[in-house]
Amino acid sequence: VCLKPYNTFGIDVRARYWVEVNHEDDLPALLHLTEFLDTPKLILGGGSNVLLCHDFDGLVVKMSIQGIDVVREDDEHIYLKAGAGIVWHELVMYCVERGYAGMENLSLIPGTVGAAPMQNIGAYGVELEQIFDSLTAVHIKTGDIQTFNHADCAFGYRESVFKHNLKGQYIITSVTFRLAKQPTFHTRYGAIRETLADMGVSDENLTIRAISDAVMHIRRSKLPDPADIGNAGSFFKNPEIPQTQFEALKAQHDDLPGYPLADTDRVKVPAGWLIERAGWKGYRSGDAGVHAKQALVLVNYGKATGDEILNLARQVQSSVQERFGISISPEVNVI
Ligand code: EPU
Repeated sequence: VCLKPYNTFGIDVRARYWVEVNHEDDLPALLHLTEFLDTPKLILGGGSNVLLCHDFDGLVVKMSIQGIDVVREDDEHIYLKAGAGIVWHELVMYCVERGYAGMENLSLIPGTVGAAPMQNIGAYGVELEQIFDSLTAVHIKTGDIQTFNHADCAFGYRESVFKHNLKGQYIITSVTFRLAKQPTFHTRYGAIRETLADMGVSDENLTIRAISDAVMHIRRSKLPDPADIGNAGSFFKNPEIPQTQFEALKAQHDDLPGYPLADTDRVKVPAGWLIERAGWKGYRSGDAGVHAKQALVLVNYGKATGDEILNLARQVQSSVQERFGISISPEVNVI
């Protein structure tokens, strides 16, 4: 099976086996197939956070479980359960249209509902964990369906237990979100405030739809659409460095942005700034490149291989290390 349509980087590799799961009830039968038991597995949602470096000699499981249901409701909240295969942005639009608040800052993030908790997706001042209630997942070895609450998931910045202790052990089948009937607006992020002002939106007429529109506008202006140019969003995570190192760097580069982290003596620094300052923004070698409008995004202009992208990523990493003494690590799963 050709995987090119199933990864947003548009890397042209093949998988030995392929199966699409449309219903949770299909999973037990799948888990007993020899093709499933005996081979490596790659679980794919929207394929928007992977870099495939070679043909996959195993089984690709494409999660396509649908369904959006209100499962509970109280005075303040709506609890919405969504199938793993729902396209993330469609769920955001579903909520914005109905006035269910909490997801609007996460508009237009590529990918699916089932993949979202894996890396605790986040943007413009909101992370998934803030609206997360629970999820269901199938244990690959036993076939048991288990529920994970917030604490079970051990969320962090672009992190969860599913990338660490439980890596490769579960397939997420649905996620339940806790959304607010009365919105709390998240407009701390400078670009959001500026865009809302440009749209003529003030505190008096602010709505979750306006925030969603502003986020879509910002994303469309900076981030390449995978339909036009292959990419997987931010390729690296923003590094967290000790306060002392930050101050030393700031003395040399007075425009270095930094966001102090609560309860630690560490500062988060935008990797995009470091990469740009190391001279990579807009760089292109063959069909592999660093996006011209957002240096944190690596792009495939057409026929780049996974190894070519990976090679570029390594060059970027070592140049940032050399220039600033900061190690940046991939956010994307390199397969
Ligand atoms: N910057 C530069 N040059 C660049 C890019 C960024 O100097 O080429 C600096 C600027 O100072 C800018 C700052 O970095 O103010 C932050 O840039 P931006 O707002 O674009 O955010 P980011 O830190 O680069 C993160 C997320 C994005 C998310 C945005 C908005 C990570 C790894 N990335 O990027 O998430 O959309 O914030 O909240 O945390 C993704 O994960 O795929 C993704 C796109």
